[in-house]
Amino acid sequence: MTADPILETRGLTKEFKGFVAVNNVNLKIQRGTIHALIGPNGAGKTTVFNLLTKFLPPTGGTILYKGEDITRDNPADVARRGIIRSFQISAVFPNLSVLENVRLALQQKLGTSFHFWKSEKSLDTLNDAALAILDRVGLRSFSHTHAGELAYGRKRTLEIATTLAMEPELMLLDEPTAGMGHEDVDRVRDLIQEVAKGRTVLMVEHNMSVVSGICDTITVLQRGAVLAEGPYAEVSANPQVIEAYMGTAHA
Ligand SMILES: Nc1ncnc2c1ncn2[C@@H]1O[C@H](COP(=O)(O)OP(=O)(O)O)[C@@H](O)[C@H]1O
Ligand SMILES: [Mg+2]
Repeated sequence: MTADPILETRGLTKEFKGFVAVNNVNLKIQRGTIHALIGPNGAGKTTVFNLLTKFLPPTGGTILYKGEDITRDNPADVARRGIIRSFQISAVFPNLSVLENVRLALQQKLGTSFHFWKSEKSLDTLNDAALAILDRVGLRSFSHTHAGELAYGRKRTLEIATTLAMEPELMLLDEPTAGMGHEDVDRVRDLIQEVAKGRTVLMVEHNMSVVSGICDTITVLQRGAVLAEGPYAEVSANPQVIEAYMGTAHA
């Protein structure tokens, strides 16, 4: 692994009215890796995501993306740089078909003028691109199903598909397998591994079989601070981690 992080935080801190939710966090996400952020509920994982995507301003510290200081960027700036967080399910339009949802995400990415969309040729191109993404995630046979009618696991897969449409360089996934049964978990785990090729993934994940199976590096957060960091074998053998987290996970 090269010492060339795509994303780095230095002393990242977020205080909510005196409560420190993220406390002096130094993260280094290496290019081309799948990096997991784990920790007990309330550890600050989602807040870290909100800081990285600029949904929240930090109260301290800096965020560097490819060596550039992005601490003062707005959400649109970071998206333009290629940092894309998976859309929440609520952002999947239930009354549109699966294909239309992906097409909409592609349109958002392209942001092309109205005239472009009047041409039938460009609409065909868009359809082809959307179908290619649906092929990739295994949802092509559901192209014409309303998103609202998809089973839960497939809805989350559609969320990954619309994220892919944005061509992320760094993809942020917050609990992509939450609430899923074994079969869906395995499918989504394989999908994440597949879509991680050629990009970097940072994911919050509770399922240890997913973390141990596909993540190169694991950062453990506890009460807003980094408790441990390293490959799964190392982190899972750390007594402090076992006490703080793995123990509760086994219970
Ligand atoms: N907007 C907010 N205002 C006040 N406290 C918050 C806010 N967002 C999160 N917190 C608190 O920060 C802590 C970390 O929350 P969160 O980042 O959601 O944890 P995690 O995702 O690891 O479960 C929690 O104690 C939570 O209550
Ligand atoms: Mg969370």
